[in-house]
Amino acid sequence: MENFDVLQALARTALAGNAEAISHQVERLADRLAEAGEEGDAKKLRALVTRSKSRQAVEPMNLQPSGVTFAPSAGQRLTAKATLPVDRESGAPLCEIVMPERGEMLPVLPSQAQAAYDSLIGEWQHEVELTQLGLPVSQSLLVYGPPGTGKTTLALAIASRLGRPAVVARLDGLISSLLGNTARNLGALFDFCNRYDSVLILDEFDAVAKIRDDVNEVGEIKRVVNALLQNLDKRTQFGLTIAVTNHERLLDSAVWRRFEHQIELGLPSYDGRFEIAHLSLSGLEDADTVARAIAQLTQGRSGADVRTLTLAFLKMSVLQHQSSSSHLGTLQNAIQATGMRGVRGADDTVQALVEVLREPPASLGQTELAALAGKDRKTIGRWLNEAKV
Ligand SMILES: Nc1ncnc2c1ncn2[C@@H]1O[C@H](COP(=O)(O)OP(=O)(O)OP(=O)(O)O)[C@@H](O)[C@H]1O
Ligand SMILES: [Mg+2]
Repeated sequence: MENFDVLQALARTALAGNAEAISHQVERLADRLAEAGEEGDAKKLRALVTRSKSRQAVEPMNLQPSGVTFAPSAGQRLTAKATLPVDRESGAPLCEIVMPERGEMLPVLPSQAQAAYDSLIGEWQHEVELTQLGLPVSQSLLVYGPPGTGKTTLALAIASRLGRPAVVARLDGLISSLLGNTARNLGALFDFCNRYDSVLILDEFDAVAKIRDDVNEVGEIKRVVNALLQNLDKRTQFGLTIAVTNHERLLDSAVWRRFEHQIELGLPSYDGRFEIAHLSLSGLEDADTVARAIAQLTQGRSGADVRTLTLAFLKMSVLQHQSSSSHLGTLQNAIQATGMRGVRGADDTVQALVEVLREPPASLGQTELAALAGKDRKTIGRWLNEAKV
């Protein structure tokens, strides 16, 4: 629908109850209508604003206490001791609380995702100023991408960066209870969250959203999804909601539309894999070379795989539980131990690995290859010459 963004902002400001911000949004809509040639309608809207402003000027009721700007900052403080909402049947908690002090690390992000992250954090850092100008901060974010690409980590890192506790809902848990209870559970979860100044994280969001059109479960499931959508709409007055999913294609458009910001996390590039490996290797003398080797060998793998392999390599190096005395030998052992089928080098000889690592993008030189393989440069030179023949 045309101008839906303005209408959405208008609805949000109206619900937050800031008269000045509402006028601003109505004026924006009038401008859009005028631009589209709907001069008559634009005029009507502007007249509404003018009338409302002159009324406000004489009505003491509309005087707003200073400092009251936006619902999120007005929420109660959530502590780790809060009583969590539970499923009535099983008694299982519907969420867990992660305090910002845990300081979740920001995952390595591709540049587009980094820009989206920066802009969201930037908005929230200036929440009060923006709201006073009639520009409410973005309150919903969808994070999507394949398994193991840092989605949950990113959601927690955002909450931590905003200094707010994360209320992490496991929707697969919520929905696995008796069907009739799921909508009620969702309501209880959102009510809990809306009481506190917090970030709601709906992890594995697709568990609820994807079943909307499943023909086998029509009635009850539709009610559940509708309850979810209604709760999401209501929540737009109450701080940030982050939904996380692996299966964005399964979400229907009604669900997509609810999210103002979207961040896609794909499989990491060579540079991304290098950074992820390097993060864990920073204490190691040959960190740079080993990280380049890991990045080269893990092409097409997720960030989680890169991290798992790097940690396995580090542990083996530290404990020297491996028979090999070279980094490359240890790396091969780590690949085998983590069962990463299909990773280049798993079943290769050290000589074959050296050839792989000489190729771009890693493009390791003879000195680096010698250090990695625990051989002298002459041997490496000979291996590479043999490979050329
Ligand atoms: N881009 C990345 N940067 C740094 N670490 C990463 C990255 N991607 C994954 N990891 C690491 O992999 C592990 C799994 O990440 P996480 O659980 O956030 O992934 P996910 O996308 O939520 O996975 P799933 O879809 O399986 O739930 C974490 O230890 C995380 O640090
Ligand atoms: Mg996850």
